[in-house]
Amino acid sequence: MSQILRVDLGERSYDIVVGDGLIDRAGAHLAPLAGPRPLLVVTDETVASLHLGRLEASLDAAGLACHRFVLPDGEASKSFAQLQALLEGILETEPERSSVVVALGGGVVGDLAGVAASLALRGLGFVQIPTTLLAQVDSAVGGKTAINSGYGKNLVGAFYQPKLVLSDTGTLDTLPRRERLAGYAEVVKYGLLGDRVFFEWLEDKGNAVIDGGGEARDHAVRKSCAAKAAIVAADETEQGVRALLNLGHTFGHAIEARARYDGAVLHGEAVAVGLVLAFALSAELGLCAREDAARVRRHLRAVGLPVSVADLSAELGGTDDLIAAMGRDKKVRSGELNFILARGIGDAFIASGIDRSALECVLAHELSA
Ligand code: NAD
Ligand code: GLY
Repeated sequence: MSQILRVDLGERSYDIVVGDGLIDRAGAHLAPLAGPRPLLVVTDETVASLHLGRLEASLDAAGLACHRFVLPDGEASKSFAQLQALLEGILETEPERSSVVVALGGGVVGDLAGVAASLALRGLGFVQIPTTLLAQVDSAVGGKTAINSGYGKNLVGAFYQPKLVLSDTGTLDTLPRRERLAGYAEVVKYGLLGDRVFFEWLEDKGNAVIDGGGEARDHAVRKSCAAKAAIVAADETEQGVRALLNLGHTFGHAIEARARYDGAVLHGEAVAVGLVLAFALSAELGLCAREDAARVRRHLRAVGLPVSVADLSAELGGTDDLIAAMGRDKKVRSGELNFILARGIGDAFIASGIDRSALECVLAHELSA
């Protein structure tokens, strides 16, 4: 059983199909989008060993040829060197503008393949088949694509929407628990930013979403995609409301930057701590009840996510180091730190001109814990 959601973006609108076992039916979903040239399937070594064979069998059954590009696993693949190698590999296959790049994998594969799709021949078709929870609920939806530069993460890229997202939730069965948990932090984010009822459902069903599979997991992926689709449809290029998706991320990105992106701290783990800190700052500023902040922390801890920097195995420095790292975030506008804060669970808003002493107080308390 699969269900279809729509990202409403005028002529760039597309479907997100969510269901267990979708890869086995990918050929039928891709056939209407495929041009005369072979599909260009981009994946990484781990995902290739687990899921590429089924995808190729499904394409074959639908009469679709493909070329495969298998990258090394990990964040280091979001580099200029890998982008160049991928683009030249794609060009060697003599693509046409109607050729379609298919990203099979997590956010790393999706981000790199998306940049390549946006650049080759000034834009090829692009389809996402996300295989991590993080990619299914966040990175595969909404059209942000990027690689990293020596100046920072995700600084080189484009808004480039896919023509289709196929989220096979069954692929999450092979994903390590730590990666599933990291993706779950982004699921919780959707409840915290705009849907208190969903957060309450997650308090009850969180472990089933992370470990149980089945309908609870599919429901969580669908709810998350629907929340993201609505925000992206309202603000595709992040001029306003899309910034709400950064709840927990100003802190999270600073933590990741201080941890040097070496795999010691996963993005979702940094976001989990960031969500706790965003609610702690909201409570410190008198915007939300301290009990709401405590409740966020309780739930994330209950499922096994880190909730404080002391839970992370990385040396992050002091308050000034973290605030300086926040200042280097690409979401800084006119030199001001912008935070997504909350009036309560399910009620986030964009705040600017935050009182630095409140921020220092929250971070000093955090770092002394
Ligand atoms: P990832 O792509 O590195 O995948 C994590 C690991 O899981 C990799 O080793 C991968 O090989 C493996 N893996 C993937 N699917 C698997 C499966 N089904 N079974 C077993 N192993 C599997 O990490 P991620 O968390 O998916 O993505 C992180 C990236 O996403 C970061 O680069 C981040 O910047 C980016 N991101 C982008 C956006 C966006 O909007 N474009 C949003 C959030 C994050
Ligand atoms: N991951 C945040 C966004 O897509 O805007």
